[in-house]
Amino acid sequence: MNILFVAAELAPHAKVGGLADVAAALPQALAEAGHAVSVAVPLHRGLKKSGEFRRTHLELQVPVANGTWATRVWQGRRGGVSLFGIEREEYFDRPHPYGEGGGDYPDSLDRFVFFSRAAVELARYIDPVPEVLHANDWHTALIPALAAVIRLPMRSVFTIHNLRYQGEFPSSEFPKLGLPAEMFRPETLEFYGKVNLLKGAVLLADEVTTVSPSYAREIQTEEFGHGLHEVLKGRAAHVTGILNGIDEESWNPAADPALPRSFRSSAQQGREECRAALEAELGLEPANGRPIFGMVTRLTPDKGVDLALEAAEGLVAKGGRLAILGTGEPGLEQAAHDLAKRLPGRVAVRLEHHEELARRIFGGTDFFLMPSRTEPCGLTQMYAMRYGAVPVVADTGGLHDSVEAWHGSKKSGCGIRFPAGTKAGIRQGLDQALALWDEPAMMKTARLHGMKRDWSWGAAVPAYDHVYRSSAGLPSPGRKKKTKGTLACRN
Ligand code: ADP
Ligand code: GLC
Repeated sequence: MNILFVAAELAPHAKVGGLADVAAALPQALAEAGHAVSVAVPLHRGLKKSGEFRRTHLELQVPVANGTWATRVWQGRRGGVSLFGIEREEYFDRPHPYGEGGGDYPDSLDRFVFFSRAAVELARYIDPVPEVLHANDWHTALIPALAAVIRLPMRSVFTIHNLRYQGEFPSSEFPKLGLPAEMFRPETLEFYGKVNLLKGAVLLADEVTTVSPSYAREIQTEEFGHGLHEVLKGRAAHVTGILNGIDEESWNPAADPALPRSFRSSAQQGREECRAALEAELGLEPANGRPIFGMVTRLTPDKGVDLALEAAEGLVAKGGRLAILGTGEPGLEQAAHDLAKRLPGRVAVRLEHHEELARRIFGGTDFFLMPSRTEPCGLTQMYAMRYGAVPVVADTGGLHDSVEAWHGSKKSGCGIRFPAGTKAGIRQGLDQALALWDEPAMMKTARLHGMKRDWSWGAAVPAYDHVYRSSAGLPSPGRKKKTKGTLACRN
């Protein structure tokens, strides 16, 4: 099919989190499977400077609240995928895709309404004409509504990467959306007197997906629904959970220039050197065969960073060391910084976005800690496993679906899962990890299982294919009726 994938981020030059990785990898995988795929992104500063895009003659007339803005389209190509960058200097030529210092830029509604409207205009020019507009997260959540109002001859699919961020704004902002006034009602975009873009997308997209089967179930409950569980339940027949994959070419320890030495599951000597080099780089004391735990994460409560910081002293007392790379909420940044100061040589903290160091942490730590309170999918645990760090994760969402729990007696599994959201849970997980560490043969087996597993997009592509076909009312070849929330689960 012909698909236009629309997202606010694109790895590696406009990356904040996993959305960027997915926007880079999933379209490639779909193209390799025979779909005609284009990707539209805002022409963020990093993308403009990357040299990957060139300015074209195509100028779109983008309707905005008080007129029409001419906007230039930039174009690039990656493998079989066409890339389109929407230029608007005063919106996108900024240091960060969303905002500096933790929060969003104050005009983020204007920025992403503009981007969504431009993407819809772009869809009319692309050849071949897209049959499906695939929008992602709140920044592009206006697209299904626009497609319905304009009566675009295309279907819309909307993917929720994280339900916490819904694009909620005061009702006074509604005119900016360019929708008829009657769309500000509970059946569409109104939610408790406010504009809620994500709610609108859930109700108006032909199909809705999210990034793991478990999260698809969780968000239909009050505990994880962020207020929208009833809305999601109402569309349950059109909500599908598809576990993300990873780009196994980009994330390959056998050929990763960020690592000091390469290694693979069948030849792991290089990994020891990566580990020693990481200790030196971070100033971690080499400690007589005791394990290093790594974290690469946005510093937010959803990621359970506070729980990890609290558990760190206990871990260090048992000989463990901890390396944290992350940016995020100022309070958590400060707490992480203070911890590293209190426990020098045992806890190392780097408060920055550093792609290469992230890769060295995956390739040089023994365990990868992810105590998320909620996790739609999570990609870092998959990168960690591919790079030989055994994941120690909270049992929630995509972590449940991607980390098969280690069973010593059966010698099966590839990581440790512990109950999410409590101090006792994370302590239990860390103790289990330390016990596994003390059994080198078992540790080796768990590590090997993770390294050898297929983390590619192979299972997700047919699931998306099915969703695209469903959105267009087409049958999927060789498939029975859709079973909601069970596709592509690896566990
Ligand atoms: P989320 O999207 O919720 O942040 P994911 O696990 O899906 O979580 O993806 C996070 C992505 O961002 C991964 O590619 C991870 O390596 C990367 N990342 C997060 N923090 C940093 C950082 N400080 N430096 C480099 N990469 C980071
Ligand atoms: C979101 C989620 C994360 C997921 C990523 C890519 O940022 O928080 O769990 O892996 O999107 O889908």
